[in-house]
Amino acid sequence: MFTYELDNQTELRQLREQHTDELFALTDKNRAHLRRWLPWLDRIESKANTENFIKSSLEQFRMDNGLETGIWFRNSLVGVIGYHWIDWENRITSIGYWLDESHQGQGLITRACQTMVDHAFKELKLNRIEIRCATKNQKSRAIPERLGFREEGIIKEAEWLYDHFVDHVLYGLVAHEWENMRRT
Ligand SMILES: CC(C)(COP(=O)(O)OP(=O)(O)OC[C@H]1O[C@@H](n2cnc3c(N)ncnc32)[C@H](O)[C@@H]1OP(=O)(O)O)[C@@H](O)C(=O)NCCC(=O)NCCS
Repeated sequence: MFTYELDNQTELRQLREQHTDELFALTDKNRAHLRRWLPWLDRIESKANTENFIKSSLEQFRMDNGLETGIWFRNSLVGVIGYHWIDWENRITSIGYWLDESHQGQGLITRACQTMVDHAFKELKLNRIEIRCATKNQKSRAIPERLGFREEGIIKEAEWLYDHFVDHVLYGLVAHEWENMRRT
């Protein structure tokens, strides 16, 4: 099971069935905050829905096609970050994340994302990482921008959010750019 200590109070742990109650409580508490930018809130109505999400993420992991981790801060679950899928033929993955509203503004996601980027390039030997954000989601866009991703273009009406489409901005980072950043 994947675990990674970011510092002595922050740890990434792969999500497992035993985390169901904590993850459902965190999701439920953050519905309004998350619903603004994430499309799946109405599909998570009960603990059983959260458990199914965790089970399917574990199945994806077993199939070598993704990894969902929880972010634990001072021993409480405060967010989720993971690889949505892995395209092994082209060595590409895509990172997604969300954070408890009251834990924003401390760099938790930026640091967690940095770790997932390092793991993807160094351990998994992937060559390209994508992050897609709604164009108006400034807080989310700030994450890849802070980590040196390149803005590659706009995907028009890429996602249906309950009652409207949003455009996405695609960010990309490739292994040799990451290597260069580490050297400087
Ligand atoms: C997107 C989201 C995860 C960003 O959360 P966030 O708290 O802004 O991101 P971080 O945890 O990396 O924190 C960055 C902030 O902490 C500050 N910070 C403090 N210490 C820091 C450090 N060591 N490193 C980086 N940033 C630090 C930054 O300056 C920044 O503050 P600012 O917003 O005032 O500029 C959060 O807003 C969220 O969950 N939104 C709803 C769901 C969502 O949109 N998901 C993404 C879909 S694509």
